Parts: sequence; C-alpha cells; structure tokens
Amino acid sequence: MKSFVAVVVALALVAVYAADEKKAAEGERPKTFRRLIPADVLRDFPGMCFASTRCATIEPGHTWELTPFCGRSTCVTAEGEQAGQLLELVEDCGPLPIPNPKCKLSEKTNKTAPFPDCCPAFECEEGVKLEYPEVAAAAAAAAPAKDAAKDAPKA
Ligand SMILES: *[C@@H]1O[C@H](CO)[C@@H](O)[C@H](O)[C@H]1NC(C)=O
Repeated sequence: MKSFVAVVVALALVAVYAADEKKAAEGERPKTFRRLIPADVLRDFPGMCFASTRCATIEPGHTWELTPFCGRSTCVTAEGEQAGQLLELVEDCGPLPIPNPKCKLSEKTNKTAPFPDCCPAFECEEGVKLEYPEVAAAAAAAAPAKDAAKDAPKA
C-alpha cells in the first residue's frame, strides 16, 4: 500500500513537472561537487597553478577543463588565514548513483562535452528515482584524498 501511494505521488509529480521537463531533467542530473585542494605550483612559475592534465600553468581566476576527466578546475588565491596561498577549486560530477537495474545510462550522455555536460545522465523506468550515496558517505569517500593531499610531504 505504501509503495502504491509512493508511485501515485511520483506520477503526480511527474505530471506536475512534465510541463517543465527540461528543468526537471536538469534537476535529475547529479549536482556538481566542489572541493578546494592546494594547487600544484611549479618552482619556476610561482603565483600560478599548474594544470597537470594540460601540462600548463594557469593564472589565478582562470578555469581549465580536466579532460580526459569530466571536471573543471579554477585557480584561486586564498583569502583570510591562508592569504596568498594558491588553491585549486575542483568541480566534478560527484558520486555515482547507487546502481539500479531500472535505470540506465542515458544515450544523451556525452563524455567528450565540456563540464558539466559530460556528467553521466541516467534514464529510469517511470516512477523510479535514482538514489545517491549520502552526502556524508560521499564526503567520507572524498576525505581520504583530501587528507592524503594535506599529508603529502612538502618538498
Ligand atoms: C559531444 O560534445 C562535443 C563537444 O561539445 C561535440 O563536439 C560532439 O558533437 C558531441 N557529440 C554528440 C554525440 O552530441
């Protein structure tokens, strides 16, 4: 009974939002995730971020695509306590949804498109909604990488 009610509610929502389909579809797309990590800086190019995926230096305030990964980074100068330190603001597609046999990767997914259009899009059977790992779990998954970066020996 409960699941029947849930399906009815879901169908009602689909009906309500059908008019605004494009927007709803974008709402379905995983939110993009952002994190700040210390920037790579080359000894000979202080004050610039080093973009390893492009093998190029990037000025603060500028953004680059992380191709072949689906993401985007921005070189930023920290303010406040860490003033002057260079940071890299990494944006990516975030955690993948929990696998669901009723959903499949959309053929509209274009992995070579610029971020965030390269993020995977999923199509589900009617009334099925993908679930994403809890943000806490995602943060926990991301944390070791952050800690690893922090703990990495500074030459
Ligand atoms: C995917 O995106 C790239 C870059 O925007 C574009 O050149 C290409 O035509 C797209 N492919 C499809 C199948 O839409």
